[in-house]
Amino acid sequence: MSEQKPKRNYHYSSAQKAKIAANRAAKAAKKKAELEARKLRGAQARAARAKVKSKERAKVATEITKKLAGTSKEKSNILTGEELQKAPVAIQKIVEKEEKEVIFRPHLGPQTAFLSASETEVLYGGAAGGGKSYAMLVDPLRFAHNPNHRALLLRKSMPELLELIDKSRQLYPKAFPGARFREVEKRWIFPSGATLQFSFVDTDPDVHRFQGQAFTWIGIDEITHYSTPYVWDYLRSRLRRTDLSITPYMRCTANPGGLGGWWVKKMFTDPAPWGDSFWAKDIETGDTLRYPDSEYIAAELRGRPTFKRRFIPAKLTDNPSLMQSPEYMAMLASLPETQRKRLLEGDWDIADDCAFPEFDKQIHVVPNLKLPSGVFRFRACDYGYVAPSAVLWFGIDYDGTLYIYRELYQKGLDAADLAQEIIEIEANEPRPLVGVLDTESWAQRGQVGPSIAEVMMSWGVRWVKADKGPGSRLNGKAEVHRRLAIDTITERPGIIISGNCKNLIRTLPMLPLDPHKPEDVDTKFKEDHLYDALRYGVMSRMVRQNAHPQEQAYVQKAEEYQPLDSTFGY
Ligand SMILES: Nc1ncnc2c1ncn2[C@@H]1O[C@H](COP(=O)(O)OP(=O)(O)O)[C@@H](O)[C@H]1O
Ligand SMILES: [Mg+2]
Repeated sequence: MSEQKPKRNYHYSSAQKAKIAANRAAKAAKKKAELEARKLRGAQARAARAKVKSKERAKVATEITKKLAGTSKEKSNILTGEELQKAPVAIQKIVEKEEKEVIFRPHLGPQTAFLSASETEVLYGGAAGGGKSYAMLVDPLRFAHNPNHRALLLRKSMPELLELIDKSRQLYPKAFPGARFREVEKRWIFPSGATLQFSFVDTDPDVHRFQGQAFTWIGIDEITHYSTPYVWDYLRSRLRRTDLSITPYMRCTANPGGLGGWWVKKMFTDPAPWGDSFWAKDIETGDTLRYPDSEYIAAELRGRPTFKRRFIPAKLTDNPSLMQSPEYMAMLASLPETQRKRLLEGDWDIADDCAFPEFDKQIHVVPNLKLPSGVFRFRACDYGYVAPSAVLWFGIDYDGTLYIYRELYQKGLDAADLAQEIIEIEANEPRPLVGVLDTESWAQRGQVGPSIAEVMMSWGVRWVKADKGPGSRLNGKAEVHRRLAIDTITERPGIIISGNCKNLIRTLPMLPLDPHKPEDVDTKFKEDHLYDALRYGVMSRMVRQNAHPQEQAYVQKAEEYQPLDSTFGY
């Protein structure tokens, strides 16, 4: 028999027993309460967490919706994978569907023609709202699947550029999921590694920023905002073929008119019937651009045309998206005739915004002009320090023909500097000259300061005051037109410019008309100083209408000996 451990035998009094029981009950109750409290806290925490999550989800959902609509205020409209995972299933489904849907469907007609054009340089121009900028954003995507594709898309100003960038954000991530936009560099990087650089180029020299860079696609939206072809011509040199499967090319868009209307018209819309492909021509001579006959050029290329251009006209009616907006049509229709024709109908023929469309290098410029002997010589000047001083030297022939044989176009010269410059230049003149000087230069500076005219005269450079009466600007312009016209008898123009007056020849065809006062040159145009000097010059020797050449010669001779200024006697 095993020895059993004696059973503990406690003997509690009943009072003690009751106490123990109460203690136990209290402990149990406390434990239960603690458990309950813990449960409650857990539930509360879970509830709180759930609340946060649903808020977050809602936020993500709104953000994604915004991004899909392209209205997100965040830096990009690109959806990250992380964001997408957080999104409600419904949203995920929408996104998947969007990706599968056709992102862009070109409008039939010109937009399709533009996006499938094969010419090296194409202008898509005409009516506003034709879908030009949109097409410009889509076109560089042609080779975005190729890692060697380097595209450059330009506008003239930053705000205009931002507008394009905004649109690209709506479009590209959908077209190329995974495309990233680098905000600082303003550059898209497509999943293939292809890039699209957005940039703005304001003035001609700004374009040198791209020196040493090469692109396979170059585009300028609103190219007529550039008053000269400089930027476009320079960029052509940045176009390089780096990959045989990419054909490099350039694209531009424009509304008719604008500062650059004159050269864009010469380059794209004049050479061939609209929509037709043509070999690129020199915009001055109209000759086809050909490979030079040089040893550096492959033998089979020498003398052959270089590349093709094409102009694709756009009309507002081409864009069904906008045609559905009667407000837009109404706005356009309410514009003045000229602007309406340009924007609504894409009319280029009325786009002659340049003030002197009749100026023609072939007619008005003689490369090495030799002044006929015995001509009366004088000069005209529009003085400037921050802006260039513009001086032109004129000779007037017995028959009234005006020759411009020299120019000076330089900024940063004070009155004394300019006077010395002129003295040096005129050292070989047969006789001392007199000039016409803008009226502002006669204003006294301060209480005692001499005027610019006085300073120059103290150095021995003589001037008379240009006419600045009412209507002098318009009369001057009319006189320049009269001078540029070909005389029916002599079959020569009334003005001949020497080829060395490079800046006058460059700026004269650029001068734009004032959009608010179309009968005058736009005073906002920066390079009008030589034109002003030209006006002062021609106004001091107005064409005598209907005078017989011999009579003119007589008048001219008489004038030569007349004092030009009654006060000073010269
Ligand atoms: N193929 C297209 N599909 C959908 N919308 C388009 C298409 N082409 C143009 N649009 C829309 O039409 C409007 C005007 O186009 P836009 O390119 O700005 O015209 P433009 O530059 O010729 O003035 C824009 O809102 C653009 O998003
Ligand atoms: Mg546009």
